[in-house]
Parts: sequence; C-alpha cells; structure tokens
Amino acid sequence: MDDEDGYFGESVAATYDESLAELFEPGVVVPAVDVLVGLAAGGRALELGIGTGRIALPLADRGVPVHGIELSRAMVDRLRAKPGGGAIDVTIGDFATTRVDGTFSVAYLAVNTIMNLTSQEGQVACFRNAAAHLEPGGCFVVEVMVPELRRLPAGQNVVPYQVSPTRCAFDIYDVATQATSSNYIDIVDGRATYTSTPFRYVWPSELDLMAQLAGMRLRERWDSWTGEPFTSESRQHVSIWEKPTE
Ligand SMILES: C[S@@+](CC[C@H](N)C(=O)[O-])C[C@H]1O[C@@H](n2cnc3c(N)ncnc32)[C@H](O)[C@@H]1O
Repeated sequence: MDDEDGYFGESVAATYDESLAELFEPGVVVPAVDVLVGLAAGGRALELGIGTGRIALPLADRGVPVHGIELSRAMVDRLRAKPGGGAIDVTIGDFATTRVDGTFSVAYLAVNTIMNLTSQEGQVACFRNAAAHLEPGGCFVVEVMVPELRRLPAGQNVVPYQVSPTRCAFDIYDVATQATSSNYIDIVDGRATYTSTPFRYVWPSELDLMAQLAGMRLRERWDSWTGEPFTSESRQHVSIWEKPTE
C-alpha cells in the first residue's frame, strides 16, 4: 500500500484522471449525473470515495450540493485543484464508518468503489453508514461490476484483460473468500514494475441482503446508468436501494 492515503496515494492520484480518461468522457459521466440529479430531487448528495471529483464536480455544476467522504488526501488535492473543487465539502475518513453532518437525498458509490472494502463486514458497515445518512425516501446507489467468474475455467484463478509489450494487466480471484486483486506489470525503459490492489468482489443478491440489513429495499437495478435492463449477460450494474419513508 502506498501510504495512509490507502491504495490511491500520490502515485495513483497523479495519473488517475489520464489513466482512466475513458471514464471522464461525457458519454459516461452525463448519464450518471442525470440519474443522481433526479434522485437528489432538490436535496443533497453524499459521494463515498469522491476521488478527484469525476462525478461530484459535474453534479455540483447541476446545482446539487455534494459532500464527499474520502480516504486519500492526494485524490482530494486533485479535486481541490479543479475549477469548483474548492466549493465541495469533503471529510477525510473511511466511508464505511465516517459520519458527516446533516442528511442526504442520495448517497452513491461509483465504479466498483464498494469493492475497495475488502471484507464483507466492511461492505455491510458501508450500507449501514449510507442508510444512516439518508432521509426517509432517500436512495443509495452503487455502480459495480458483476464478478467475472464465468471467464474463469475450473482450476484457474487469473483473468487477464490487457496484454501488450509494455503492460500486462490481470485480476486474481480467490473464489473461496471472494478476495480478488487487480494486478499490473508495466515495462518502462526495459524496467518492470508490479502493482497490486486488493478488492472484495460482491454479487448483486449479496448487495441486496446488505441493503436489507441496513433497512433499505431495492428500487431499481439496471445494466448501466442509462437504464437498460439488468440481465444474465450484464457485466456490471447500477443498483438503487431506497430507505423506507416509515
Ligand atoms: C475507483 S476510485 C473512484 C473515485 C471517484 N468516485 C470516481 O468515480 O472517479 C475509488 C476512490 O475511493 C477511495 N476509497 C477507497 N476506499 C475507501 C474507504 N474505505 N474510505 C474512503 N475512501 C475510500 C479511494 O481513495 C478513491 O479515491
């Protein structure tokens, strides 16, 4: 691990936006922001793992007050350096346990960030923490991949997803514990560096149970932010749970 900033310390924060440039494309960001503006419905939004503000900044631009919880000061420094970044409230801490003042119409976790919590207990705590911040009728939104176990033949535990003369990227799965990791070997000037980030993969039905434990119920599950149906061929989902009004 990098430092107290977790796995998104200075070295990752410095290149986060450019290395994930496709996630910053309007075609990716705008549908997510549209959904969140609708769910905020004039109220406040809480982003867990706000990062460099990929979603929070355009959401705030649309008039939604956004508060972020974030472990990495290095990521928040990048957010602060962007236009409008200084106006977004951020609390440094673990989003599984950190409380902030006030209540919210919507809380959300984008791009697999729920998987950064590497224990089931941590993920359940995150659902409880999100629910505790929501007003009655408020929603918790999670965007996350479907675990790619269908790409894993019996006896193998590695799913490669990028191989080139300068990069080899692969996920390692432990199907007994649901521990997984994303691994990169990068070759620059003939020198290889290896980095590994741990995750915990989690099934849609398991997330529904976590929501139930936190007193919420499923309102929508889509294949993506644009609202296509979630099917057995979906490789990711956007799920919305609601905190009951009574
Ligand atoms: C994949 S990035 C997503 C950043 C941003 N939400 C986006 O959509 O670009 C995950 C972010 O969550 C933060 N993070 C991971 N685990 C965390 C935790 N337990 N508490 C607070 N922040 C965490 C990381 O530091 C990182 O900024």
